Amino acid sequence: MAKQKWKPGNMVYPLPAVLVSCGDKEGHVNMMTAAWTGTICSDPPMVYVSIRKERHSHAMIQETGEYVINLTTEDLAWATDFCGVRSGKNMDKFEEMHLTPVFGELQYAPMIKESPVSIECKVTQVAELGTHDMFMAEVIAVHVDDKYMDEKGTFHLEQAKPLVYSHGQYYGMGKYIGSFGYAVRKKTIKKSVSKKKKK
Ligand SMILES: Cc1cc2nc3c(=O)[nH]c(=O)nc-3n(C[C@H](O)[C@H](O)[C@H](O)COP(=O)(O)O)c2cc1C
Repeated sequence: MAKQKWKPGNMVYPLPAVLVSCGDKEGHVNMMTAAWTGTICSDPPMVYVSIRKERHSHAMIQETGEYVINLTTEDLAWATDFCGVRSGKNMDKFEEMHLTPVFGELQYAPMIKESPVSIECKVTQVAELGTHDMFMAEVIAVHVDDKYMDEKGTFHLEQAKPLVYSHGQYYGMGKYIGSFGYAVRKKTIKKSVSKKKKK
């Protein structure tokens, strides 16, 4: 096996393709697809989304300092792609995609009702990096669809069938492999199994 060396580029995949919703001070709302997004701090909980200056959403987020990261699903795949190739400059993408803006804690940025997880964010810093401006933000509230809560209070995100974006392609999540820390737990199980075998 040999590895090819490519010129520098973006190759951290797979990623979530999220819908970032926002609004302006006149009451217009919009949403755009973003893959350059993620978590940057656990406490305080902080996230980022990197957006090109020419996006309609960029101006809105710049104006209000608010956005919502809405996780997407297989059911939302069509809308996710559409909102990533059409601008809200001359179109109401909520109306076009039959999605519903609903307000939580933020004043200007709505959540998308149909998303299983909406993360309300307030911008704390903007880093002008080059093609993209990175909007770092503190999470002020997380709203989850109670359809995916079980009787023990556990949230089953996998039941929402989250959408995955990898190198230009959309996928579902694939098969279950294990839970956090399973590598350590597995060793314990293996040991006890091998001990039993030796007896
Ligand atoms: C899968 C996918 C991921 C995208 N990720 C980003 C991103 O992280 N940042 C960005 O500025 N544009 C991204 N785009 C492009 C914008 O979503 C697109 O230009 C959109 O039309 C902007 O909408 P707006 O002008 O209404 O804000 C992505 C598009 C797709 C399809």
